[in-house]
Amino acid sequence: MSAAVRFDPAGALRGGYTPPADKSISHRAALFAAMCDEPVGVRNYLDSADTMSTLDAVRSLGAGIDEDGEGRLLFRGVGLHAPLEATGGLIGVGNAGTLMRLLPGWLAGQPGRSWTLDGDESIRRRPVDRIAEPLRAMGADIEMRDGRLPPFTVRGAELTGIDYELPVASAQVKSCLLMAGMLAAGSTTVNEPAPSRDHTERLLRRARVPFVEDGRRLTVSSVDELELDEIVVPGDPSSAAFIVTAATLVRGSRVVVRDVGLNWTRTGFYRIAERMGAVIVGELEEPDARADAEPLGELDVASAPLEGTVVEPEEIPLAIDELTLVALLGAHAEGETVVRGAEELRLKESDRISAVVEGLRGLGADIEAIADGFVVRGDGSPLRGGVIHSGGDHRIAMLGAVAGLASLEGVEVVGMEAASVSYPGFEADIRALLS
Ligand code: S3P
Repeated sequence: MSAAVRFDPAGALRGGYTPPADKSISHRAALFAAMCDEPVGVRNYLDSADTMSTLDAVRSLGAGIDEDGEGRLLFRGVGLHAPLEATGGLIGVGNAGTLMRLLPGWLAGQPGRSWTLDGDESIRRRPVDRIAEPLRAMGADIEMRDGRLPPFTVRGAELTGIDYELPVASAQVKSCLLMAGMLAAGSTTVNEPAPSRDHTERLLRRARVPFVEDGRRLTVSSVDELELDEIVVPGDPSSAAFIVTAATLVRGSRVVVRDVGLNWTRTGFYRIAERMGAVIVGELEEPDARADAEPLGELDVASAPLEGTVVEPEEIPLAIDELTLVALLGAHAEGETVVRGAEELRLKESDRISAVVEGLRGLGADIEAIADGFVVRGDGSPLRGGVIHSGGDHRIAMLGAVAGLASLEGVEVVGMEAASVSYPGFEADIRALLS
């Protein structure tokens, strides 16, 4: 079933808005809570298709999860080195790339056990050799379809620490190896080519795992158990970015975003948007390395005229999930906007370079793909509008909706239901802000 939903040109967006809980942090909270021996409470866990896949996965490994009736999930974990149960040895990850790439870090360190991970049609196109290669170097045995794709089987082993240079700045691969490092003999070092989201590092510190950060060299040592009591999940800055983009583009808008995560490794999009002329008042500039809590706060956003910008390669990992929104801002800005060094976009829930170029071109944008990004030109006027297909990609669906509100003639989004992967309440939230 593919739902087509129209988003017509809107009057201003106005009011207060609280985004849904952070997807990245929710996945990690569930995995870390399941690795604990003592119960862990998680407040504000995201209710979405992706993060439900993670709850199902940890349940299938033997963790218990109860709701306490006050919006908190109580996890009864199985312990880091626990004799994990496997129901049939098959773990469904659905559409969740983060679950698919993080969980094997834990499974790989369980000697004598094996699991097969598989998911939907989109996940089957997403490579896992990026985690398999270093996990094999640590001692695990991993077998993939065509040597690089799901379904894939992880056979756990006694792991040994390695010193690994990440070929791409990927928070998923980094996190997978740091998790495996907790189970490996000695210490495991991961070298990042550029900073990427650091939620796993913060949780390691919170859980009192021996962990040292020396610039971009991250070293974790083996540990017997994790110590966590409660994790509070902030609002998702990637989800909020859709509303912030709509408020920036639709004239007369003013939206206050509350309780949104302001971790510097996640706010790259907001810094790019500000550079283009967006009016966003809030704490975007504070790198907070070595912290163990997740910062959250408020952003006050007003509509503004924009100009083009060049997004530099080192900014890419800090805005990776919002780059399609940079394209939409660029289509409404005066001048040229260039995003390069973003070849990773081709490996997301869809090939997001093709999806955004074809999608926005169909709405009237002057946009072209380059191998590792895109170039978009605007004259400061709104897009015409038309029809966009989500292709099952949640972020393309929500991009189309925002494009519709900012357009001259409206946009029909085919496959809008994909939004529920990360943001089931998106349509209701954005419509509630329309005056
Ligand atoms: C994520 C990391 C990013 C991002 C994804 C979530 C995470 O992926 O695109 O949506 O939670 O670690 P990569 O690590 O592949 O860049």
